[in-house]
Amino acid sequence: MTTPATDTTADRNPRPVGDNRQKILEATMKRFQYQGDALIEVLHKAQELYGFLSPELLGEVARRLKLPPSRVYGVATFYHFFSLAPQGEHSCTVCLGTACYVRGAAILLRELEALSGVQAGRTSADGRFSLLTARCLGACGIAPAVVLDGEVVGHADRSDLKARIQALLKREE
Ligand code: FES
Repeated sequence: MTTPATDTTADRNPRPVGDNRQKILEATMKRFQYQGDALIEVLHKAQELYGFLSPELLGEVARRLKLPPSRVYGVATFYHFFSLAPQGEHSCTVCLGTACYVRGAAILLRELEALSGVQAGRTSADGRFSLLTARCLGACGIAPAVVLDGEVVGHADRSDLKARIQALLKREE
């Protein structure tokens, strides 16, 4: 169960309670003392948390690291491992961090791979579904946590999640 909360994060979606992605990203930048040299590490973390690097997210990183937006954009487009757009029409990121792992995240991931026919880290051939993983979404208190199309789903119930994804994929057949 999630409750929308207003904020002005780089994510275009309202953040539900338990969504600490903005805090985690901020903590990462703080750990690097907001040094511009840490840009690649920060972008990695941002992509891991949000699934892709939106223009708003790149702008936020540029602002916080006091770097020209053109430099941040240049780095994000130079490296193939950064994605500036959602990878599939629908995406599901399964957190495999410790708190989620011990609550069955790996089993859930295997089941989602079998259900969708998409391996973790990949997008289906038709571009409709991406299955991603993260090390910690900052929602350990509601583990296991996944992000389904931008919505953090806490205490993810395997059957419920599989039904939701199946419905999403069927709707457009
Ligand atoms: S370990 Fe999954 S949200 Fe932190």
